[in-house]
Amino acid sequence: MLAGLPVEFVGSFPDPHHTLEPAGPEIAFLGRSNVGKSSLLNALLGRRVARVSSTPGKTQFLNAYRLGRGYFVDLPGYGWARASKTERSRYRRLVHDAIARRASLTAVVWLLDIRHPPSDDDRAMQELLFGSGKPALVVLTKSDKFSRAERLRAVRARAGELGVPADQVLATSSTTGEGVAELAESIQAVLDGER
Ligand code: GTP
Ligand code: MG
Repeated sequence: MLAGLPVEFVGSFPDPHHTLEPAGPEIAFLGRSNVGKSSLLNALLGRRVARVSSTPGKTQFLNAYRLGRGYFVDLPGYGWARASKTERSRYRRLVHDAIARRASLTAVVWLLDIRHPPSDDDRAMQELLFGSGKPALVVLTKSDKFSRAERLRAVRARAGELGVPADQVLATSSTTGEGVAELAESIQAVLDGER
């Protein structure tokens, strides 16, 4: 469904309030650096449009992709320990403003690594995100790193740590494609609600 739509890279914008035209629903991808945002975006679109790297910090600005009448917005990752203090505060401000103050943002896909409890940065982001009132889809990445039994345990553990029902946390893998179709459906439902 999403994978069938034509996709066009719109641009990379340092201004969190940059206006995308024509206006359409916008879905942002948020998460720690290296959590797999760009990979999941590519998996959802069924092609490699976003830049993926094992070196954290590759996504520096708001990278916008137009699909149909809406947009996917790939955000820089937060919490990259080796970024300079200046870079970190610049990313933090960009992400903060994009989530809390970007009026055109429709919903946020928030990614956490299935293997790790939320970090302090994740906690701060959760507060910002849940406080923003934007619909949020909570997604766990890299589920292929676990066996099936470990995966089920990890989903329950992460949901408990976040204080959200386990059935509202979706395990995904950009490598195996697990959960990608379900996520596409949830995103489509959000987009349909916009019409
Ligand atoms: P930044 O742009 O730096 O914030 O990173 P990102 O969140 O966009 O992560 P990216 O998609 O670039 O992936 C980071 C690393 O994790 C790369 O080495 C990917 O190949 C790897 N990776 C991403 N998704 C998965 C997954 O589902 N499974 C596994 N095993 N590796 C993954
Ligand atoms: Mg990225």
